[in-house]
Amino acid sequence: MTFEINSKTQGRILLVIGAKTLRRETKDLLERFDHEVESAVDGFKALEKFAAFRPDLVLSCYHTQGIWGRRLLKKLKEMDPDIAVIFMDKTCSWTDAVQAVKDGASDFLRTPVEENALIDSIEKALKRRNSSLSQESTQQIFEDGEEGFSGLIGTSGPMHTLYRAIKQIAPSQASVLICGESGTGKELVARAIHNNSPRNNGPFVTLNCAALAEGILESELFGHEKGAFSGAVQRHEGHFRLADKGTLLLDEVVEIPLGTQVKLLRFLQERKFQRVGGTETIDVDIRILAATNKDLPTSVKKGKFREDLFYRLNVISLHVPALREKPKDIPLLCMYFLKRFCRENNKEIMGFADDAISALMSYHWPGNVRELENAIQRAVVLVNGPRIQEEHLPPYLSQKTTTENPIIPGSSLKEIERYAIEKTLELVGGSTKKASEILGISKRKIQYKMKLYRKDQMSQP
Ligand SMILES: Nc1ncnc2c1ncn2[C@@H]1O[C@H](COP(=O)(O)OP(=O)(O)OP(=O)(O)O)[C@@H](O)[C@H]1O
Ligand SMILES: [Mg+2]
Repeated sequence: MTFEINSKTQGRILLVIGAKTLRRETKDLLERFDHEVESAVDGFKALEKFAAFRPDLVLSCYHTQGIWGRRLLKKLKEMDPDIAVIFMDKTCSWTDAVQAVKDGASDFLRTPVEENALIDSIEKALKRRNSSLSQESTQQIFEDGEEGFSGLIGTSGPMHTLYRAIKQIAPSQASVLICGESGTGKELVARAIHNNSPRNNGPFVTLNCAALAEGILESELFGHEKGAFSGAVQRHEGHFRLADKGTLLLDEVVEIPLGTQVKLLRFLQERKFQRVGGTETIDVDIRILAATNKDLPTSVKKGKFREDLFYRLNVISLHVPALREKPKDIPLLCMYFLKRFCRENNKEIMGFADDAISALMSYHWPGNVRELENAIQRAVVLVNGPRIQEEHLPPYLSQKTTTENPIIPGSSLKEIERYAIEKTLELVGGSTKKASEILGISKRKIQYKMKLYRKDQMSQP
């Protein structure tokens, strides 16, 4: 995948070769075939480069220093499940070669490799990698969003897991709790569940529970009768009624006051309610979805959210991944938003310059897809040439998110801790789960620390 509309560049290839001459010769050869090439001398350096370079293919000696062979393959696949990996080796056994291919390597070549055979193998592997995202299907995704997924864009592993989950849970009547950080697309996911469900001819209605005071929230949920309270000059239908035969999304559900939670629970048990100030019992047929960017079990522990209501809403829970958990989707999302904002602003912009790409790829995106969307919108307004340059992106994107390698002794424990956390996150492609396993601290602590570092960074002039 490239960062240019209809561009026909060859692949981005990361070489992992210890021997200097072979490394240089292979790089020269691949560059002659118009590939963009970066190289690393061993497996550790390869993982480090991988995060920044985001190659389409890794061409690696099977035995290198540090991490190699199947372990290297596993790590690369964890960072990008679709990565094409070709191994080369002089002495490797037949069993190792077969096992590597079984584990997902695209090819295993015995060195010395003939130039034509190498180029042929690389082209085949790149073709296979790209076939899942051909130009045509990308175009389709840009225009319509993934079919049936209500404008959700993304072809990464975590997005496919999400699409599968949506397809699986959509037909049922069960309540779903959609969790994820702010700006990850929870509302789009809710719409996708509705659109894939048998209720898709009925309404999809959203109520943001955070924005409303307790009395108004109840009125918005249940509706009210004329004269129910001062100012109730006429009967008002609430969202339960509006969503009849369809789906109601209760957004920021954790913000519902405890008093209203009891009433909501009763409704979920009986599927009947009365308007505020009314006596008529109204039956409705709705499916409830709830969304939150906070951790509901914590709110339950703190006594801010009823446990029984939590279990009612959380019949199925769905995690919407943060953007840093799916860096592979960044180029696709960038091109999608670029196209959209070009259309809206009547501009023609081809794509992104290299410096802009690396800034977009290496940022941690605390505000997720919404933040990326805003950054591209801003860039489209500011740019005059054919490409978006780094200078058109918000300035904080270009500031280094990672502290410099700390000098020991000479750095405070705080600086060393920050380095360890940020460097580990970078190496595992931003997954707080994996970083927490490596560092031996909780995911929550990592998230908390990252928040502090970001605040720190924002407050710098
Ligand atoms: N995968 C995606 N593909 C395309 N657009 C996306 C995707 N995810 C999010 N967006 C866009 O990002 C913006 C935020 O999405 P949405 O409002 O669904 O997020 P949210 O998780 O509900 O955020 P919040 O917690 O702040 O309410 C929207 O403009 C949405 O269209
Ligand atoms: Mg939302």
